[in-house]
Amino acid sequence: MEREPIGVVGAGWVGLVTSACFAELGHEVWARDIVPEKVESLSRGEVPIHEPGLSELVRKNAERLHFTTEMPDVLSHAQLLFVCVDTPPTYSGDADLSRVEAVMRELGDSDEHALVMKSTVPVGTGRSVQRRRDSLGYVSNPEFLQEGSAVADFMNPDRVVVGANGGSEEYADRVAAMYAPLGGEIVRTDVASAEMIKLASNAFLATKISFINEIANVSEELGADVSEVARGMGLDNRIGPKFLQAGVGFGGSCFPKDVLALKQLAGNSGYHFQLLTAVVEVNELQKRRTIGKLQKHLGSLAGKEVALLGVAFKPDTDDIREATSLVLAGRLAGEGASVRAYDPVAGAKAEDMLAGARIADSALEAIDGADGVVLVTEWPEFRELDWTGEVKRRMRVPLVVDGRNFLDREELVEAGFTYEGIGR
Ligand code: UGA
Repeated sequence: MEREPIGVVGAGWVGLVTSACFAELGHEVWARDIVPEKVESLSRGEVPIHEPGLSELVRKNAERLHFTTEMPDVLSHAQLLFVCVDTPPTYSGDADLSRVEAVMRELGDSDEHALVMKSTVPVGTGRSVQRRRDSLGYVSNPEFLQEGSAVADFMNPDRVVVGANGGSEEYADRVAAMYAPLGGEIVRTDVASAEMIKLASNAFLATKISFINEIANVSEELGADVSEVARGMGLDNRIGPKFLQAGVGFGGSCFPKDVLALKQLAGNSGYHFQLLTAVVEVNELQKRRTIGKLQKHLGSLAGKEVALLGVAFKPDTDDIREATSLVLAGRLAGEGASVRAYDPVAGAKAEDMLAGARIADSALEAIDGADGVVLVTEWPEFRELDWTGEVKRRMRVPLVVDGRNFLDREELVEAGFTYEGIGR
């Protein structure tokens, strides 16, 4: 079957995954980014981000992937333009839509193209675009990919959401057809509902995490073990086992931003979204709780050496946006501790971001002489460390705060470590 050529605007993480996966499905893809160096390296088949399977897909489909800095290249080859630009929060908590606006300016008054919005935008964005440009096709097609498994998520979606109003239904049919080979359920709806599905899904998952983190905190007081509690809860079909992992709080470029965006949108419309206010507050406190766990055993942290294992906001990514490690490094420095951090892939990115911390070249180097280790990101290699031998020998005080309940507690305790987990 003939697959239609598409344009992708913005070759960041979402745009690249979208480009590579649609190329894999047989589409010619014209992907545009404004950063010339990025376009050059992508054209050579070099992918600038760490995302499992992405480099392979880009190289495999090089013939169908055309990277360019020029919008006219894209417009002359494709009608459907998948918009994958950043929409970061502004100081007020609203979304900054200037990059979406820029795309619209570049389109001029073309009525032969349709925007397929993958960027996360406030509910109402589609309506306001269409009010200004009623001849422009507009489809809302939010993404639900997770960093670290984005390629697999794209290829095996739980669902694909395609929202359109009135005159854009024909474009929505074409977008839906593109996803049909993947087999996930396609949710056809209106634009505002599609926009809301995206924000509400992320806000709900963030709520689930803050909820289990609070259960963890109470469990510590009452002698329950949150891992057991989550296992028992998760077997209820209505609850489900996912996103019930207690830890050091959620980070990343999506949950913190989208929870705030939805709270802000509600507020702007006159509704105070109380639950989300609490979700954010619980998360901020959760990020800081670790400090108290160190103090409980070390007293004042002034002059103490603390090792952070993991900097990325979760494993399998080099993304450190809103990562708990950033808050911890800042807080520890504030307490006068000296911090060494190690991450298998995000170390270089963290160099300028981790307040006063030194980035070590290996986990053992970070741990050397430490008064306490905090496991921040559950990279598998941290489990493989020789905890009871080499690690213990190198530490000044054998204290481990396992921020992800990831390590073998019994083994550590038996070997003489002081072990602090989350909610156990
Ligand atoms: C999230 C959503 O899961 C995706 O569906 C969505 O497409 C994406 O945001 C987005 O809007 O672009 P992502 O930010 O990549 O994906 O990461 P998640 O795997 O969802 O994890 C987010 C944070 O929650 C991480 O810091 C993780 O450590 C934390 N988390 C997750 C927990 O603390 N406990 C859990 O049980 C699950």
